[in-house]
Amino acid sequence: MVKYTISLFSRYNKYIKKYIESSLSRKEGRMLELKEICFSRDNKKILKNINLNIDDNKMIVITGPNGSGKSTLAKIIMGIEKPDSGKIIFNQKDITNFSITERAKIGIGFAFQQPVKFKGLTVKDLIEISSGNSIKVCDACEILSDVGLCAQEYLNREVNGELSGGELKRIEIAMLAAKQSRLTIFDEPEAGIDLWSFNNLISVFENMHDNLKGSIMIISHQERILNIADDIILISDGVVQKHGKKEEILPYLFSKDNLCYKNKCIQSS
Ligand SMILES: Nc1ncnc2c1ncn2[C@@H]1O[C@H](COP(=O)(O)OP(=O)(O)O)[C@@H](O)[C@H]1O
Ligand SMILES: [Mg+2]
Repeated sequence: MVKYTISLFSRYNKYIKKYIESSLSRKEGRMLELKEICFSRDNKKILKNINLNIDDNKMIVITGPNGSGKSTLAKIIMGIEKPDSGKIIFNQKDITNFSITERAKIGIGFAFQQPVKFKGLTVKDLIEISSGNSIKVCDACEILSDVGLCAQEYLNREVNGELSGGELKRIEIAMLAAKQSRLTIFDEPEAGIDLWSFNNLISVFENMHDNLKGSIMIISHQERILNIADDIILISDGVVQKHGKKEEILPYLFSKDNLCYKNKCIQSS
């Protein structure tokens, strides 16, 4: 009888462990878990055993020197690149082998560092496609004005090579705001928007954070973007060097020991 009980216990032990683990992560509001992610190309280790837990409803800013692996990490979360090893868990589901489309469907949205052009589609078409249903003109206009574009001028414009990099970037941000993903990733959104008031970009992110049910992950070197984060992740040479609350990480980034990092990597505007 004792033997039978022990064997029954060990058989169910792993299920019990799994259940406890999954209910714990649910309780903590965990959205994304990266487990031991490794990624190499051309004999170069780009990401070295990345372990990260991202909570729900958070504004997370990823920062770090150029070439440290930030964009690669974003591409791995999005499914554009496949890790050599490791697991990606999104809302308790193993999505390591999910395609980009499957990840988009379960709520992961992404803005490229270089904006994409869509020949033949208008700005309104793109906002509509992103939001997943036909959007009222007034709602589309509101989203456009949030990103600093005059709706009357842009709503029916084709998204082609005639638009500047800054305009494309803003349209892409408007699409992501309309999409309302559970996790929205922006790779250096400040790049190429010099002409547009930087304040607008900050308030778009703050509005998204207030109204969105989900987390926003921004890769940035901008001090003002670091300042609106709940949590900051510092990536350096393919490893997570620091991850914690803004209040804990910012003083570290700006400390005397890190002057070289601050001068090289953080841009103040
Ligand atoms: N597909 C790839 N093939 C070869 N090298 C790559 C590839 N993707 C990224 N890298 C290299 O990996 C390093 C990290 O790149 P990246 O993730 O773009 O850095 P970051 O976004 O932090 O500036 C760089 O040295 C880059 O050249
Ligand atoms: Mg990058």
